[in-house]
Amino acid sequence: MKISLIAAIGENKVIGAKGDLPWHLPDDMKFFSTTTRGHYVLMGRKNYDSIPLKFRPLPGRPNIVVTRTNQINDQHVHVVNTIEKGIQLAREAREEELFIIGGGDIYRQTIGIADKLYITHVDASPDGDTHFPEFDISEYTKTTLEHHPMDDVHNFSFTICVYDKN
Ligand SMILES: NC(=O)c1ccc[n+]([C@@H]2O[C@H](COP(=O)([O-])OP(=O)(O)OC[C@H]3O[C@@H](n4cnc5c(N)ncnc54)[C@H](OP(=O)(O)O)[C@@H]3O)[C@@H](O)[C@H]2O)c1
Repeated sequence: MKISLIAAIGENKVIGAKGDLPWHLPDDMKFFSTTTRGHYVLMGRKNYDSIPLKFRPLPGRPNIVVTRTNQINDQHVHVVNTIEKGIQLAREAREEELFIIGGGDIYRQTIGIADKLYITHVDASPDGDTHFPEFDISEYTKTTLEHHPMDDVHNFSFTICVYDKN
């Protein structure tokens, strides 16, 4: 099973602010949705909490939520108390590509085992309290998928790239 991380990252590595995203990028959300749909997604409890009630669990894909305190009251998500158990759950379901969807705490603990990174580079350096971990670009082969300009509904321009581990 391939393990992939998918994230949108500012130039300053910021990914979150006060439990939310620091930008509004609907077309990147669409990319996230079409890329992950049909696949198991694994997220930290704080990321799960940040998803508006009407959008969670994320539809069309099994949701795994990692928490040490197990206070998720949603029978439609798989709740696990270690990341390894979440990965194992997806593997046993014969998932081909598991998506780790954040947030920062979970990215930091899994970037070392990821085979592939889907990174949206946002052309902004917003204030924030959550960051994507450092990674050594020389360990990956980078492919640029698309550039999206700023417009009326996207408050920043962005470029979507894929990094395959060498
Ligand atoms: N830009 C992006 O692409 C992107 C993507 C996702 C999220 N975000 C942003 O990131 C922020 C949230 O990230 P975060 O770093 O604060 O939190 P997080 O990674 O979403 O969740 C952290 C929580 O996960 C649980 N956890 C972490 N490691 C664990 C382990 N090894 N075993 C069991 N449970 C574990 C703990 O939950 P308990 O406290 O319940 O034990 C911990 O408090 C938000 O601002 C969100 O909007 C941004």
